[in-house]
Amino acid sequence: MTDLVGRTFEVKVFGCQMNRNDAELVRGILSASGAIEVEEGETSEIVVFMTCCVREKADTRVFGQISSIAGEYPPEGSDLSKRIVAVGGCIGQRDGEKLVDMLPLVDVVFGTHNIEDLPVLLDEAIARGLPQARLVDDREPYAADTPKLRESRFHAWLPIMKGCNNFCTYCIVPYVRGREMSRPLEEIVAEASALVDDGVREITLLGQNVNSYGSDLYGRPRFAEALRAIGETGIERLRFVTSHPKDLSDETIEAMAEVSCVMPALHLPVQSGSDRILEAMNRRYTADHYLGIIDRLREAVPDIALSTDVIVGFPGETAEDFEKTFDLIRSVGYAQVFTFIYSKRAGTPAATMPDDTPREVIQERFDRLVQIVQDGAWAFNQGSLGKTLPVLVEGASKRFGAIMAGKSPQNQTVHFACPVDMATDSLVGKIVDVNVDLARTWYVSGELVR
Ligand code: SAH
Ligand code: SF4
Ligand code: F3S
Repeated sequence: MTDLVGRTFEVKVFGCQMNRNDAELVRGILSASGAIEVEEGETSEIVVFMTCCVREKADTRVFGQISSIAGEYPPEGSDLSKRIVAVGGCIGQRDGEKLVDMLPLVDVVFGTHNIEDLPVLLDEAIARGLPQARLVDDREPYAADTPKLRESRFHAWLPIMKGCNNFCTYCIVPYVRGREMSRPLEEIVAEASALVDDGVREITLLGQNVNSYGSDLYGRPRFAEALRAIGETGIERLRFVTSHPKDLSDETIEAMAEVSCVMPALHLPVQSGSDRILEAMNRRYTADHYLGIIDRLREAVPDIALSTDVIVGFPGETAEDFEKTFDLIRSVGYAQVFTFIYSKRAGTPAATMPDDTPREVIQERFDRLVQIVQDGAWAFNQGSLGKTLPVLVEGASKRFGAIMAGKSPQNQTVHFACPVDMATDSLVGKIVDVNVDLARTWYVSGELVR
């Protein structure tokens, strides 16, 4: 019996899908310990932060929030003298005990490899009134039996591997998520089957580098095999993030074309269009190699929607390097591009590289890029005008209650009005057809086909 029974909690999530998945584990573990999650907007006794440190902005934002919440009073009726704050995720793993020195009101620090320790740490912190910090090095891939409370009834994250071995020179992730560790294929397939039985219609396979799946396992199952095996479970929609261009094999492209539940959408971070910068980033491919993959993908899956990540202002990036990135982005014609200004991360190799490009020059490059990215997204969505798209309905739009929002196979956001004689709830989690009659930069909209 722990002291968590009946205590209220909430989880605040920052960063990538991996953190969202880990937050589902935190919610599952705390619920299994008898704690109760509060509704959005209510005050809880325990607040768990799942943090991200991939860029400086993410870092500072979360520090601000933690320090203000850690000093607050608990909700009325609680026997605690203050709200209990636990910090997990990537900042937890990076800073460990140092975090308690920096933010003395923090009660618990845990890392990315020991989520299951959280109830014990919270118990000890509450019982003794002293901060508890515990981190461990990589243990196991993921315990299959850890309880999980999903964000969604019909969508599930399914981590197939964790960690990263790539050490891109700008990136902190390998230091806070450990080395690559794949889960056994049978375990993944069993989990996918259980999700299908539970009514899940879409699964997103997760890993920092999903397409290198299996290289650390006995028998070396390959990612393409995993796609085919999961496809057999009867899941209706299958997606995966993130793929590294250097590991995207022809076999995977073939599986994407042949396995019908694999959605025609791929996120393939390019980071830069300049071979010199790609080398300095330790990406281990050239722009030409990347463009070759894009050609093969389009040949195999003609309607594929491509998205990517780009870093502007990597140390030593010249005007010429940037033009190469700009041209590559324009020539590929992405559905979506996530653009980032380079952010120095202590402890990474790039942090010590000479970096003398003025801030304004980087900002100007960034703004130019954002413009063509928006034009590209708009052009991509125009291609859906007049088409009927199967849409997995996620819910009612936040601003207009009767406007429903969902996702097309190509991952576009699709809006449509809920007919007056239908309850909005009855549509959530269904796949419905929508005739698209309007296409904007960030969404398309149309009419429900009945
Ligand atoms: N494993 C994934 C996710 C990495 S983080 C992948 O390899 O794609 C997501 C994105 O953040 C990266 O693709 C990169 O574009 C960006 N990023 C990572 N570190 C960064 C840094 N120091 N500065 C700016 N952007 C960064
Ligand atoms: Fe970071 Fe590179 Fe690993 Fe992605 S592949 S997590 S960018 S080191
Ligand atoms: Fe951030 Fe950690 Fe993901 S640093 S991007 S939450 S792996």
